[in-house]
Amino acid sequence: MKAAIILATLLTALAVCQDHDYWVDRVWGELQQAVTCATCEILLGTLKTVAHQGPDVLRAVLTEVCTQAKIADADVCQGTTAAQAPSVFYILEQLQIGSATTGNAPNGTLFACGDWGNPRCDPPIRLLTDSLLPVLQGLQPPLAFSLFTGDVVPHGFWLTSRASVEADYNTTYTALQTLNRQGPVYLALGNHDTSPINIYPVSPTQPSSFNPQWAYDLFGFWSNRLSLQPRPPSPSPSPSPPVPVPQPKNHGNYSILHHHHHQTDTPTLKIITLNSLLYYRLNTLIYTTPPTPDPVSQFEWLTTELHQAEIHHQRVWLLTHVPPGDRSSLATPAP
Ligand SMILES: *[C@@H]1O[C@H](CO)[C@@H](O)[C@H](O)[C@H]1NC(C)=O
Ligand SMILES: *[C@@H]1O[C@H](CO)[C@@H](O)[C@H](O)[C@H]1NC(C)=O
Ligand SMILES: *[C@@H]1O[C@H](CO)[C@@H](O)[C@H](O)[C@H]1NC(C)=O
Repeated sequence: MKAAIILATLLTALAVCQDHDYWVDRVWGELQQAVTCATCEILLGTLKTVAHQGPDVLRAVLTEVCTQAKIADADVCQGTTAAQAPSVFYILEQLQIGSATTGNAPNGTLFACGDWGNPRCDPPIRLLTDSLLPVLQGLQPPLAFSLFTGDVVPHGFWLTSRASVEADYNTTYTALQTLNRQGPVYLALGNHDTSPINIYPVSPTQPSSFNPQWAYDLFGFWSNRLSLQPRPPSPSPSPSPPVPVPQPKNHGNYSILHHHHHQTDTPTLKIITLNSLLYYRLNTLIYTTPPTPDPVSQFEWLTTELHQAEIHHQRVWLLTHVPPGDRSSLATPAP
């Protein structure tokens, strides 16, 4: 979650409020001044003017600002702006200023991470497969269930592709699947769990080229597998089939009743996983004019789910990647 250095800096402007070199100097100058709502709006106005000259100009200027200002290494600046410029361009084109919406880089490694990782690196997979999982698998009594809050993709976000992200889902979730012998594993979608990162449309009217349906589908596939409920004990010799799990129409969200350890009685716990990236500050696509009060109607769905739980006397655990109420989430008007 922490990684988006460059556009983070530029997009902070969004959250609070003629030639190439000329625009680079001007954007960088205004970026340093952008500490109040008024100065942020000046910066946004300039960025809109740059965007008006086309997506390629916008990308070139942002790359140059990032590189010259040493916001990150040149290759990180290049890769990140290439990935993020299309959605930044799209949102700048429609943004009305004054509306309510206003690493560890390659070849720059200073210390080795070590075989088992380091708190300042992404953990290697063997920390999970050879250390954490064997401990969890041996616990007595066995785990009732496990929660995993997302971000299976390493933080080298300027180097990812759809194929690399898919491979990361598969590696991590195949490893976590071994916990299913104990109980289900419930998942949340992370902001890194797509490529380019942080791009999650808030309405079906946004261009379909931004829709990470493949990531939602793969998340849905693994959510289904990992949430498999243990079989209730069967007195008959023929094994009872696994309790069916509904196939989600998934946007990075689902709701499921937890069947506690081989008990046959009615479940009293409901797990609801929200797609918290629809409110995440670094998701460029949330800055619509006017603001989208309930992105993809997720709150409407949540309300119904909570209401049903209340009727059936179930407790609810909400699972998200970005904490709601944290400053990482944009405050949206109540629908
Ligand atoms: C890595 O850094 C060294 C020293 O700064 C440089 O000479 C070399 O070209 C760099 N290699 C790559 C692949 O960027
Ligand atoms: C990941 O797993 C899914 C489901 O088994 C499969 O369709 C896909 O090809 C795999 N992708 C990669 C890159 O391993
Ligand atoms: C996810 O939320 C949408 C509303 O945003 C809802 O229509 C859909 O049914 C939910 N998906 C699942 C799997 O519950």
